[in-house]
Amino acid sequence: MRREALLRELGLGPVWRLRQPAAEATVPRVPERSTDAGVSPPLTFDQPAPTDDGDDRAAAIARMGWDELKTAVADCRACGLCQARQQAVLGVGDIEADWLFVGEGPGAEEDERGEPFVGQAGKLLDAMLAAIDLKRGENVYIANAVKCRPPNNRTPEPDETAACRPYLERQIALIRPKLIVALGRPAAQTLLQSEVKIASARGRVFDFNGTPLIVTYHPAYLLRNLPDKAKAWEDLCFMRGTMKGS
Ligand code: URA
Repeated sequence: MRREALLRELGLGPVWRLRQPAAEATVPRVPERSTDAGVSPPLTFDQPAPTDDGDDRAAAIARMGWDELKTAVADCRACGLCQARQQAVLGVGDIEADWLFVGEGPGAEEDERGEPFVGQAGKLLDAMLAAIDLKRGENVYIANAVKCRPPNNRTPEPDETAACRPYLERQIALIRPKLIVALGRPAAQTLLQSEVKIASARGRVFDFNGTPLIVTYHPAYLLRNLPDKAKAWEDLCFMRGTMKGS
């Protein structure tokens, strides 16, 4: 598809001017892991205790290679999302990619096919990638904040993103991307471990353990809010500029 056609697909008219990278990058600190155990309801899955066991689990995941990680994610029962999933969805793409895109969690089609972003939102994500000369699988890796489909595509709960975060952290450590793009609020909040509003986080470079991180709208949001596709195009240009400057 030619660039003009892609921009039409994104619902964009004129080409937008590239934003200057924010002079002052916002670098939120990743807080220490909580040790507040709280009161647990009866569970039918292996909830990670947020104490020594939770730390042991995270430490074990932090040592895994890709094969172990694949198996661990496929067999994971660390939160309630395991109960309704067809399969866990680890991620897809080039494991040495410069670009890492992180979404929220698998939807129905992803749960069925075992690959992230294969539904309508995925089509738009592919078009967004193509608009900046990127392609799924070629120097691009796509993952999600949670690896199992939240029932009815609801937003993952904080305990679910927390249980899954060690997997995402390990993926990032293994891939060593030059740039991480958080697609939507749940992905941004999971990665930055703080409250994030997309409108105010756009156009800034955050830090994830030394890797630049940029926040933009989730493609599913853009499908419902067509006027914001123009802002997404600004964000794509900003990403490309940030990568070129890295
Ligand atoms: N939305 C996401 O956040 N991830 C997917 O994999 C699919 C839709």
